Amino acid sequence: MIPDLPINQSGSLVLVGAGPGDPELLTLKAVRVLKSADVVLYDDLVSDEILKFLPENAVRVHVGKRGGKPSCKQSEICDMAIAYALQGKRVIRLKGGDPMIFGRADEELRAAEAANIPVEIVSGVTAAFGAAASLKLSLTKRGIARKLQFVTAHSRGGKLPSDLDFTALVDKTATTCIYMGISTLPPLVASLRAFGMSADTPVIIVENATCENETIIQATLETILEQTACISLKGPCLIILGEAMRKRI
Ligand SMILES: C[S@@+](CC[C@H](N)C(=O)[O-])C[C@H]1O[C@@H](n2cnc3c(N)ncnc32)[C@H](O)[C@@H]1O
Repeated sequence: MIPDLPINQSGSLVLVGAGPGDPELLTLKAVRVLKSADVVLYDDLVSDEILKFLPENAVRVHVGKRGGKPSCKQSEICDMAIAYALQGKRVIRLKGGDPMIFGRADEELRAAEAANIPVEIVSGVTAAFGAAASLKLSLTKRGIARKLQFVTAHSRGGKLPSDLDFTALVDKTATTCIYMGISTLPPLVASLRAFGMSADTPVIIVENATCENETIIQATLETILEQTACISLKGPCLIILGEAMRKRI
């Protein structure tokens, strides 16, 4: 419940990227902003170590999924952020990775703008960059990977999006970073094969990138389903696809 206080126009909203997990990947700016918080609305993938940067008396509201319970609706998160800001609070919306990548930032920016609340963004390290650093494999590679594409393989209904551009996805000169793609991996692999992607194309899954419990699965388009069949991937997973992911030999 948000306490019922009088409206005070000095509030503000900052969308802050918490990075992929390792607290040392927070930016100096993110740390400074976190220290100035009155209220923080934070996602699931934000660790306790990162929350330690908040002032002791900051109000902390977890708005992600946990323990099988459903997450807050996006409209509720927007309403909460605006209500606190209208009470004069400095509200931090702390998100995993970078707020501008698959982070529903647009809805929160629109809500702040509609309520005339000043809003700022603090960039974070997106999961793909954390994963590439862990793998020590560059996402772009001279003469091999000239194009980098970020896609989500998860539609609103939880299925593989029907409008994915498979011609672009099977482009041999591209590296594709797939967010939220584990549950739709079987139809994704089938479609990539149907669109002619070579069976030996490297595919890597990084679970919990940059965290202490990080796991890496190195496979090919042909072997990835078999290699993941008996593994329970419970943490966030990034899938990276393309020739740039071929091991150095
Ligand atoms: C809602 S999206 C948020 C992405 C985030 N804004 C970013 O820039 O990384 C959540 C998805 O990001 C990916 N992800 C986030 N953190 C990750 C991590 N530490 N390791 C692997 N994948 C991660 C997973 O695909 C996860 O399902």
